[in-house]
Amino acid sequence: MVRRFIVGNWKMHKTISQAESLIQAILKIYHPQTSVELAVAPPFVALQAVSGLLGSTSIKLAAQNVCAKDEGAFTGEISPPMLREAGCQYVIIGHSERRHIFGETDQDIHAKIHAALRHSLLPIVCVGERLEERQANQTQSVIQHQLLTGLDGLESKDLAHITIAYEPVWAIGTGQAATVDQAAEVHAHIRFLLGKQWGVNPDQTRIIYGGSVTPDNAQMLFQSPQINGALVGKACLNSESFVKIAQLATSD
Ligand code: PGA
Repeated sequence: MVRRFIVGNWKMHKTISQAESLIQAILKIYHPQTSVELAVAPPFVALQAVSGLLGSTSIKLAAQNVCAKDEGAFTGEISPPMLREAGCQYVIIGHSERRHIFGETDQDIHAKIHAALRHSLLPIVCVGERLEERQANQTQSVIQHQLLTGLDGLESKDLAHITIAYEPVWAIGTGQAATVDQAAEVHAHIRFLLGKQWGVNPDQTRIIYGGSVTPDNAQMLFQSPQINGALVGKACLNSESFVKIAQLATSD
């Protein structure tokens, strides 16, 4: 069994001082459990301040995006070494907002995954279908394409460093989470694909679900052994609901 993983994706919320307050509030009420790993992904400018507050606690720091280049004339971009030095251990790659609002392609995501791994940043790779794709029965083929293109060129040992986040686009920020059966079905398919392509032991692959996860539906989702945690957006902006979701994920 892989360790459950709860990641808070703050998106473009919280200034530096607001980020500090949120972390302090989380630290006040969170009691680490060995069965759950917790990470927060604040905006870039707050990373260093949050890193300082997290110090030697068990909560990990993640970035929301990364540039595929190490350095150079790439105005507005943030490189993997910059994230490492700011204290990040993880990086979210290919979030649906990056894909659909900012036009990131599977090739961009592929380059970012390789860049992150080169610098020992652990990628949280997001995949997910749009509503019209689900309605047209294309969910499996969309996920397969995103996964195989994004992870192309990796060796099976690299897969041990990767978390997959299944985030159906229609469930993100809509209040309409996938049902446990819908999520589990896609997670099982992802496990099958990783096993087939890279020979990865399905039980060792960490696949988390994202899309309108709240304290009210987390328990139901975590009942499935296919669901190894959650990528939480809106509900992570409140210390109590974020910590509650983490508690619901524990099996200690
Ligand atoms: P949400 O966002 O929980 O607000 O739906 C999840 C995400 O986008 O990662």
